Amino acid sequence: TDNGKFPNVPDTDYADEELRQKAKQALVQVRNSLGKTYLPLINGEYVPTETIIDSVNPSNPQEIVGKIGLISVQQAQQALQAAKAAFPTWKKTPVRERAGILRKAAEIMERRRHELSAWICLEVGKVLKQADAEVSEAIDFCRYYADEMERLDQGYDYDVAGETNRYLYQPRGLAVVISPWNFPLAIAVGMTVAALVTGNCTLLKPAETSSVIAAKIAEVLVEAGIPQGVFQYVPGKGSQVGAYMVEHPDVHLIAFTGSREVGCRIYRDASIVQPGQKHLKRVIAEMGGKNAIIVDESADLDQAVAGVVYSAFGYSGQKCSACSRVIVLETVYDHFIERFVEATRSLNIGAADEPGTEVGPVIDATAQKRILEYIETGKQEAELALIREAPATGYFVPPTIFKNVSPDAAIAQEEIFGPVVAVTKVKTFDEALTVANGTDYALTGGLYSRTPDHIKRAYAEFEVGNLYINRGITGAIVSRQPFGGFKMSGVGSKAGGPDYLLQFLEPRHVSENI
Ligand code: NAD
Ligand code: ALA
Repeated sequence: TDNGKFPNVPDTDYADEELRQKAKQALVQVRNSLGKTYLPLINGEYVPTETIIDSVNPSNPQEIVGKIGLISVQQAQQALQAAKAAFPTWKKTPVRERAGILRKAAEIMERRRHELSAWICLEVGKVLKQADAEVSEAIDFCRYYADEMERLDQGYDYDVAGETNRYLYQPRGLAVVISPWNFPLAIAVGMTVAALVTGNCTLLKPAETSSVIAAKIAEVLVEAGIPQGVFQYVPGKGSQVGAYMVEHPDVHLIAFTGSREVGCRIYRDASIVQPGQKHLKRVIAEMGGKNAIIVDESADLDQAVAGVVYSAFGYSGQKCSACSRVIVLETVYDHFIERFVEATRSLNIGAADEPGTEVGPVIDATAQKRILEYIETGKQEAELALIREAPATGYFVPPTIFKNVSPDAAIAQEEIFGPVVAVTKVKTFDEALTVANGTDYALTGGLYSRTPDHIKRAYAEFEVGNLYINRGITGAIVSRQPFGGFKMSGVGSKAGGPDYLLQFLEPRHVSENI
């Protein structure tokens, strides 16, 4: 380690011609293996299903990335039984061995890095460079949580003369991981390996639109030596099998990342004690954001414009961390808008796998329709500063900027989850902070400023889980920027941070008179 810091794996340097070639070859190879069928992994077996759905490339929906077998409620029940049967042995498996499986998984993903990036690019429409960063994050999660569990496994000694006092951690039991499509590898891997390394038998239910990548996670974990029944890949319909598993009395913990609507429902449903249930469930719910960047009169505008553009339009605004509001002090407002519009005008919009693309498609037709409706709402509520043209094929939405947006407009309050930005003018820095804090969410936020007093106030008063000063607000790195929000952005300790694994554990204490 470097100064005792966690050694993050480096991203691919695409300036290196050889690596660029490798990435290109991987894309060709993955394209040649599109359309295969992926079946659920239940108790160590890939099992047939009654329902099979297509997962398509959002840049070109004619292209079927894979066919996904969706489990039935009965198969979910079988998987839970298998998990229950596997738990006593997994619980007793030494942490060293459990951590070893995570480290092996990290190694496998490192070896398959370009291939995994290509799957991400084609299944969820993320450009290669950002897909590659996601592979790094997944690798980091494995190694970081392996280290973290070894640390926690030492417990604490509170001995006094004549009495040993040992503080220990044990697993909770059965964990259900319910993941979103927007970080189909990193977030699914992060929640899954955290649940596994802490000794819980874990079922991964990915978002329907990213189930091929989740099937690759299953391949990786199986190759890394995860025992049967300990990890199961259970793709299925969220509202059906997802809800069934959340309510099941044998489940101890639900680790969810996704929308506010679903997160709140899971939080509520998991709190109801079912017949036969002898414990209360723990819910980790990481939800949406309505993230703002404040630009004050002392900001370096070059830096601010570049940071806002990347944070707002990277992955078409479909990161929970994305910037969707910009709050600008009136003295620099017109100048900022002009430069922001100019920079957005020059973004390359296209298929995610085209070299040079900066803004790809959105995930599916439903998202496309929802975002386009928000753009119509915006036209009623505010002034359109820019709307780009988007390609006709594929689920594209044109990058759009609204100006003079009132802080209580729908487009300034609701998570749109697309390439749409609301810019609001304010008179004072106080007002900027009030507007920034004036939504239900508290996930990420940013400030561009060279005024020490403003920076100091933002530290204390900008109510977000992750605050970024004079830089973009996306792309948190494991252990360096532990990630997660509060208010309606979530209940949970930060992913990639020192408190995260505690949520998956039950603390115990033993006092022995000697
Ligand atoms: P979503 O809530 O629609 O789906 C997430 C998961 O929940 C999917 O696996 C889905 O199948 C499942 N699900 C749906 N209904 C369910 C139910 N009734 N019971 C159980 N499971 C159910 O979210 P999404 O569209 O996949 O992801 C986008 C959202 O995720 C955005 O709101 C974004 O802000 C949020 N997000 C948050 C973070 C964070 O760390 N805070 C990170 C990434 C994404
Ligand atoms: N962890 C992701 C980011 O910071 C969501 O962009």
